[in-house]
Amino acid sequence: MTAAEVSVVTGASGGIGTGIVRALLERGDRVVAVDISADALERLRADIGKTEGRLIGVVADVADERDWDRVRDEASAEFGAPTVLVNNAGISPKHDGRKLQGVDIPLVEWDAVVAVNLTGPFLGIRALAPGMIEAGHGRIVNMSSVAARYGGRLGAVHYAATKTGLLGITRAFAHELASSGITVNAIAAGRIGTGMAAMVSDDVNRDYASTVPVGRLGTAEDIAHAVRYLTDPASGFVTGITLDVNGGSHMQ
Ligand SMILES: NC(=O)c1ccc[n+]([C@@H]2O[C@H](COP(=O)([O-])OP(=O)(O)OC[C@H]3O[C@@H](n4cnc5c(N)ncnc54)[C@H](O)[C@@H]3O)[C@@H](O)[C@H]2O)c1
Repeated sequence: MTAAEVSVVTGASGGIGTGIVRALLERGDRVVAVDISADALERLRADIGKTEGRLIGVVADVADERDWDRVRDEASAEFGAPTVLVNNAGISPKHDGRKLQGVDIPLVEWDAVVAVNLTGPFLGIRALAPGMIEAGHGRIVNMSSVAARYGGRLGAVHYAATKTGLLGITRAFAHELASSGITVNAIAAGRIGTGMAAMVSDDVNRDYASTVPVGRLGTAEDIAHAVRYLTDPASGFVTGITLDVNGGSHMQ
């Protein structure tokens, strides 16, 4: 096993995803950037610059199982079977910058959030874990949220439910895959000053930052650093955990 992992990152063109892609490329990984937006993937490629052929983009919807077959096949054809999966794609619908109260959430919005935030990571693991089992090595990270710790206080009902459910997916797969050399962990990210946080006003983010013990919002680099740790080949004794990366805003 070498440090040259083949790493699949979903939601790769978003604020946090871009930071993760950058960090894994810096480590020497070959990276498959997955995003539903072709334009955003193009912007990511331009942002990242030269990669010596170690970055490909695949336009795919994480909620579509056939798209996952394509991600696996394109990754394998280009770099070999993926050994790292970062299930980072997620959505948190806002209406004029505000989350809906649970009683107002239409079923269509509930279904969309479940599809991307919960079904997506399940499908990703289901598609890529067999290759990792064959290799006898794998690292999987699921991007949860402090909303899973606080209940719905910071996240709408569907968001909190899916980010909490993701912790169940993490532990169940961690049990199933541990004997195959595969770790499965979650990151419960605090508010990070990227795309999703930018959907609410600066005032809201400033107020939130004032409640964080370290006194600021998180950065994509804060999360990327945690992803690097959990996906490091040397992290094989860490599995089934939820790593809180939140500046102290929730302590276990
Ligand atoms: N930003 C925060 O404050 C924060 C806090 C806690 C957790 N998170 C989680 O971190 C992850 C990334 O958040 P972000 O702030 O970078 O969000 P973002 O909105 O900037 O990026 C999300 C990316 O996911 C992509 N995407 C959306 N639906 C998709 C789908 N069906 N298939 C493939 N790609 C899809 C989008 O095109 C976008 O590039 C999410 O799971 C989010 O829930 C974010």
